[in-house]
Amino acid sequence: MTSPAASGAVPLREERDIVLSRQMVRKLTQELKFSLVDQTKMVTAASELSRNTVVYGGGGEMRWDVLEQGPKRGLRLCFEDHGPGIPDLNLALTDGWTSGSGMGMGLSGSKRLVNEFDVQTVVGAGTRVTIARWK
Ligand SMILES: Nc1ncnc2c1ncn2[C@@H]1O[C@H](COP(=O)(O)OP(=O)(O)OP(=O)(O)O)[C@@H](O)[C@H]1O
Ligand SMILES: [Mg+2]
Repeated sequence: MTSPAASGAVPLREERDIVLSRQMVRKLTQELKFSLVDQTKMVTAASELSRNTVVYGGGGEMRWDVLEQGPKRGLRLCFEDHGPGIPDLNLALTDGWTSGSGMGMGLSGSKRLVNEFDVQTVVGAGTRVTIARWK
């Protein structure tokens, strides 16, 4: 694992925390001098994953790490909850599949917006989605 140059966390307990996580990711990607398009990709993914953490995970947090690998810079975001977990991850990652009333595009769409995407989930224990994008 890449050792982080800077790190932090924001709580994701309710709807309005999603706005704060979006703002944090916008600020971090601006500081990293991501292009406007890449900023928006990361903010969009963070927004979707934050929403899942609040809506399905019963709340949790987003941790962030600024990554440095030689001259390369990146941002890693980790969304963690201690909710019900995802019983069938392949199904959950399918475009258009939702257990609720969403569009079923949050997980699959986020995956396409980033360079690294990982889901760890245990039924009855919780879910951790980790994404990263390099500049
Ligand atoms: N943190 C989580 N904990 C438990 N289940 C989750 C979690 N995140 C996603 N899921 C499950 O995976 C399904 C797919 O998630 P995804 O974000 O792709 O779609 P959605 O949230 O249903 O709709 P959309 O995000 O398009 O509004 C969800 O309907 C839910 O059942
Ligand atoms: Mg969703």
